[in-house]
Amino acid sequence: MKRVLVTGSNGQLAKSIHKVSRTYDNITFVYTDIEELDITNQSALNSSFTDQKFHYCINCAAYTDVDKAETDIETAHKINVTGAQNLASVCSEFGVVLIHISTDFVFDGENDQLYKEEDHPLPLSIYGQTKLDGEKAITSVLENYFIIRTSWLYSEFGNNFMKTMLRLGNERKELSVVNDQIGTPTYAKDLANIILNIIDSQNQDFGLFHFSNEGLVSWYDFAKEIFLKEGILVELTPIPTSKYPTPARRPKYSVLDKTKIKKVLRVEIFDWKDSLKRALRAYRNL
Ligand SMILES: NC(=O)c1ccc[n+]([C@@H]2O[C@H](COP(=O)([O-])OP(=O)(O)OC[C@H]3O[C@@H](n4cnc5c(N)ncnc54)[C@H](OP(=O)(O)O)[C@@H]3O)[C@@H](O)[C@H]2O)c1
Repeated sequence: MKRVLVTGSNGQLAKSIHKVSRTYDNITFVYTDIEELDITNQSALNSSFTDQKFHYCINCAAYTDVDKAETDIETAHKINVTGAQNLASVCSEFGVVLIHISTDFVFDGENDQLYKEEDHPLPLSIYGQTKLDGEKAITSVLENYFIIRTSWLYSEFGNNFMKTMLRLGNERKELSVVNDQIGTPTYAKDLANIILNIIDSQNQDFGLFHFSNEGLVSWYDFAKEIFLKEGILVELTPIPTSKYPTPARRPKYSVLDKTKIKKVLRVEIFDWKDSLKRALRAYRNL
């Protein structure tokens, strides 16, 4: 029986893992959030890994408030860099495989083609920089890791774009959404299935991977599809990023190339519209 530690268990990815984990009765999952296990506390991690035998650790804990990170630099660094470093050291010491999640925001968005794993990262924001430094902290001390960069994560859980649009669509008659940032939404349940596939198959192709749903859209396109599928009547206006200034700069193009993960895991990836349909249904059934 494989034992898997999931950190950051109150977050949307961890909750999605919890949901899909029910089909894996050969794996025991131990879920911890910051109250039970703070990844910035090395001695707490050491005690936990000494007390319990884990084969895998899925790190879902992160500082994810992209705009707040611009001023709350120390906390973002502590969680995304020191936390990742602590987990890598304890995984190295106890022979545990670390599965860590990173982001398309490590790129500057100046590419005009899909971003591959080996493309040069150049973050535009503090959040992106801390996530990149977290990746480096892991790769410098650990060999048995999977780092999965994903983009535009959403689900029926937590705070995310889909849920914000559903709320605003019901509150307002008109809405403006940026149409000059291009990326790919990722349903957290699809990412959760990929992670559990890696564990279940005991895949040994360690390294860095890109994963999102298939397709590419702007935030405006994403919003439009949410309203269309839910039958929400709102006057939606496309606007440039310059009309919606935010503290953190975001890449204007951050579509990830998924060739490597598809080849290694031999998986098909859902189109973003199909996944959105399932996410909306799951949200309605919560
Ligand atoms: N959301 C996106 O659009 C997106 C896009 C690309 C990549 N990612 C990456 O995907 C991963 C999962 O994101 P998510 O959306 O599921 O994040 P999330 O919903 O914000 O969940 C993160 C969880 O980590 C917890 N946490 C924070 N500091 C911690 C600590 N020191 N020790 C233990 N737990 C701690 C948080 O608790 P509190 O809520 O109490 O702080 C929260 O429950 C992250 O690595 C993120 O960077 C996300």
